[in-house]
Amino acid sequence: MKKVTVVGAGNVGATCADVLAQKNFLDEVVLIDIKEGLAEGKALDIWQSAPINYFDTRVVGYTNDYSKTENSDVVVITSGIPRKPGMSRDDLISTNANIVMDVTRKVMASSPDAVIIIVSNPLDVMTYASHIASGKSANKVFGQAGVLDTARYRAFLATELNVSPRDIQALLLGGHGDTMVPLPRYTTVSGIPVTELIAKDKLDAIVDRTRKGGGEIVNLLGTSAWYAPGAAAAQMAESVIQDQKHIFPCCVRLDGQWGEKDIYLGSPVKLGKNGVEEIIEIDLNEEEMALLKTSSQHVKDVMKVLDDMKLF
Ligand code: NAI
Ligand code: 2OP
Repeated sequence: MKKVTVVGAGNVGATCADVLAQKNFLDEVVLIDIKEGLAEGKALDIWQSAPINYFDTRVVGYTNDYSKTENSDVVVITSGIPRKPGMSRDDLISTNANIVMDVTRKVMASSPDAVIIIVSNPLDVMTYASHIASGKSANKVFGQAGVLDTARYRAFLATELNVSPRDIQALLLGGHGDTMVPLPRYTTVSGIPVTELIAKDKLDAIVDRTRKGGGEIVNLLGTSAWYAPGAAAAQMAESVIQDQKHIFPCCVRLDGQWGEKDIYLGSPVKLGKNGVEEIIEIDLNEEEMALLKTSSQHVKDVMKVLDDMKLF
């Protein structure tokens, strides 16, 4: 029995459940939400697409009933609130941290061995909060950011070069936000270094657009993205459950890599049945290291805001 629970049946959570179902490798996807009827309704709608999209994965939804999440292999946590007018960033951090920690404890009670993938923002710090609430080893609690951010970077490059996005391999490091560090030196198009195919000014513009990729969508839609984020979390869950051992950039707890310790930050990792099976400490030049340090300082500043709230 292969089972994933997705907590939060909003835009990202429902998309993640839909993508997982269409991948057709799971027995069951359980959607959970606090809002009465929402998870039930979205799950029923997804399940009713099964005869059209040809999948067998049962998709079910429940309002706050964590007994139904029992024995999940992976739990994806997307629950939280977006920032509202008049709300400070600190208010958002405390509200979402309380939600993420509460949900983490509830899913842990039913699925103590599950791998937990965090999506809620601010991502790096919510993953840190979930890890503390879970009491689990860090390889089993990590966050989705880099799969989305590199997907944006790869999509922009594919448009610019008029090539298949599948041929573009890319990495990035750091926090999920404008300080993230896309790495052109580690970007190839079917093995050809991207720097040989694209002028520096165009590449710099794509790197900058990637860093601001979340904001670009918010400006267009008035809310944040969901198709690519939901698909990204689903791809990570698949790599774990199918033990695919993909190398993906994920938000993980560093333990000395690049001189960083006790912080959740984006890094290339191997994802398999044990969760994060390896953190790959790639070589950085001076400029890349400086950018990573700026990004880690930004994440540490938000971690301090959370620590000072003494929620745990
Ligand atoms: P949404 O508002 O559509 O969905 C959030 C859902 O969480 C709502 O349905 C709400 O009822 C539910 N919820 C709130 N408290 C809950 C609780 N205690 N238990 C269960 N469910 C609860 O928001 P959306 O667009 O799905 O985004 C979800 C989160 O993901 C946000 O924090 C957003 O900033 C973040 N996000 C992160 C990305 C990433 O790359 N890491 C990308 C896109 C969004
Ligand atoms: C995104 O990158 C806002 O984290 C969200 O789209």
